[in-house]
Amino acid sequence: MDLLSPRPGVGQIKPYRSQRPPQDGRRWIDLSLTQNPLGPSHLALAAYREAASAIHRYPDWSQDALRHAIARRHSIDVDHIVCANGSEELIHLVTQAFAGPGDEVLCHEHGYRGFLKAIRAAGATATIAAEREFVVDVQAMIDRATDRTKICFLANPNNPTGTFIPADQVQRLRAGLPPHTLLVLDSAYADYCRRPTYSDGTEIVENSDNVLMIRTFSKMHGLAGLRVGWGYGPAAVIEAVNAIRGAFNVSSPAQAAAAAALADAEHEEATYAHNAQWLPWLSRELERVGLRVYPSVCNFVLARVPTDPSLGVQAVIDHLAHRGLLVKPVADYGLPDCLRITVGREEENKALIVALAEVLG
Ligand SMILES: Cc1ncc(COP(=O)(O)O)c(C=O)c1O
Repeated sequence: MDLLSPRPGVGQIKPYRSQRPPQDGRRWIDLSLTQNPLGPSHLALAAYREAASAIHRYPDWSQDALRHAIARRHSIDVDHIVCANGSEELIHLVTQAFAGPGDEVLCHEHGYRGFLKAIRAAGATATIAAEREFVVDVQAMIDRATDRTKICFLANPNNPTGTFIPADQVQRLRAGLPPHTLLVLDSAYADYCRRPTYSDGTEIVENSDNVLMIRTFSKMHGLAGLRVGWGYGPAAVIEAVNAIRGAFNVSSPAQAAAAAALADAEHEEATYAHNAQWLPWLSRELERVGLRVYPSVCNFVLARVPTDPSLGVQAVIDHLAHRGLLVKPVADYGLPDCLRITVGREEENKALIVALAEVLG
């Protein structure tokens, strides 16, 4: 018998792996991660550099300046905000705080895989509701909830499908879940979605006592490398997360840069405008070279490679890599014939289409 063995659930987790640009001196175009192609805000960079001179000190455990900046920017109550080392950490913390062995946590079919990892790490059981055509099916989620369901995760919009459900559907989901279930709304891509029927979930948080909204600085704000996410929710949830998080979980340069990024409306507008211009272009061009593209409201698209016995997804990925381009295979999302492709800079998007046209004929 092994003396050391992690608890059940941990063995089901596959460590994160993704294709990395080889260090071969070539300039690689990485469209495999959902990053901001324009980079960070210059205000965030300046704040980061200034904070560097004080990195011999521990960060502010109370995250005060950053929480106040978030509260001001989003007109929300500072006492109901908690920050974490990326929204990924927050997903883990809230799962750990509210679910454990014997509990169920509800997710959707092609939902963000970070949820499953957190659920398994906490020793809880994931239950999965089917989607319809890559869109969350609220009734299917309600039907899957039981008296053991402690958390329901909804990524809205979702990664990797790029689809969203409107605010009234989110409200219907909340109303249909048992009162003992915490609805976690992961709004990582909210900044890209300006559809009139969409809401990041702020009002739902404010009108209920069992909803937590999660946001990130990794996407629109271009700070993926710094790892800053935040949550807005009821006092009981914020207190539980604060109780178990590391006191210094967000580094001081990260807190400073994130707070500064919120003041850079110009960077945000430029990022939004870039995406609004290139997302439709990319979707159109991908269709033109033969991929099936699903409509996205995010900074990436999900594209299906045509069924052709002589050409699989891997052959496409290999050809792109040969041309110095990385995209994301999404087989572990139950989408073995699809790729997730992030909107890049103009020349990157164009290089991708040229390389795809070569391999797809
Ligand atoms: C839906 C969703 N939630 C959360 C995350 C985690 O983001 P981060 O930990 O960088 O804040 C991602 C990252 O891709 C995501 O797509």
